[in-house]
Amino acid sequence: MLTSPPYNIGKNYERDRISIADYTAAQQKVIDECVRIVKPGGSICWQVGHHVNGHAQIVPLDILLYSCFQQHEAKHKLYLRNRIIWHFEFGCHSQRRFSGRHEVILWFTKGDEYKFRLDRVRAPQKYPGKRGYRGARKGKYSGNPLGKNPGDVWIFPNVKGKHIEKTIHPCQFPIELAERLIEALTDKSDLVVDPYLGVGSSAAAAILHGRRAAGCDTVADYVRIARRRAKLAAHGKLPYRPRSRLVYKPKANTPLTTVPDTFAYVTSTLPNGSHLLPSEDRRLPLSPAAVLRNGS
Ligand SMILES: C[S@@+](CC[C@H](N)C(=O)[O-])C[C@H]1O[C@@H](n2cnc3c(N)ncnc32)[C@H](O)[C@@H]1O
Repeated sequence: MLTSPPYNIGKNYERDRISIADYTAAQQKVIDECVRIVKPGGSICWQVGHHVNGHAQIVPLDILLYSCFQQHEAKHKLYLRNRIIWHFEFGCHSQRRFSGRHEVILWFTKGDEYKFRLDRVRAPQKYPGKRGYRGARKGKYSGNPLGKNPGDVWIFPNVKGKHIEKTIHPCQFPIELAERLIEALTDKSDLVVDPYLGVGSSAAAAILHGRRAAGCDTVADYVRIARRRAKLAAHGKLPYRPRSRLVYKPKANTPLTTVPDTFAYVTSTLPNGSHLLPSEDRRLPLSPAAVLRNGS
């Protein structure tokens, strides 16, 4: 089970905003059904962000919904295995709080035994040349030759702007996010179900990896696109961002990465090639042009 429900924030695919109590009750019903149908050994992944209420107060949905799952702990041995942070770099620029740049995936399993195929999703080591410095492993490479555990903070670009997977859906998740979960938590021919299918990112990822897929959505246009993407995936023709591609780092000294004179800060390049963006208390001297323009 791999899904991302509506966040009750008034998106066009939602009905009117409802109270948090009604939202939680509606989610409880769906979660109960998901727990019922997932096989022992199977997983439930609930990908959520924040609800924002009328006072611009945020409600973290993973915290809100955790108890809906926890109710199934005793009867179904439903256990939380990870609370994964998905970090991305684009989104609304908030004026009265720090801009939101992460969402969460709650990963639960049903039963004591469960599928977790770590070797399929290992990531490159940061220091592959590191060697043991004592004992029997002294002088030998100490890292796992298959790569490292990717951890519980995942960095994948969100599907905005010119992302190759962008469709008419306002909040689809990236296929690479679904791929990592599907590869690690299921085997070939397993069934991946998404009760809030959207444009079928989970289904497409499932098919790309030889799994079966099912899902539903209340918006017929999304389901049409989901079917089309599933077919493209089955024929190896789906456009998607490959997991092996590193997150894009803009090159220095291009028109887009050069700080204009009119901006009230400057950057300096450190010897290791990274950039320092001075904060208030260690602001570097402004260029004379910027000082004049800012009147300070
Ligand atoms: C956050 S989006 C999911 C996007 C999806 N992960 C993707 O990548 O395309 C939530 C989806 O839930 C759908 N939805 C809203 N209420 C629903 C309901 N009661 N039953 C099924 N789907 C619903 C919306 O139309 C929307 O597509």
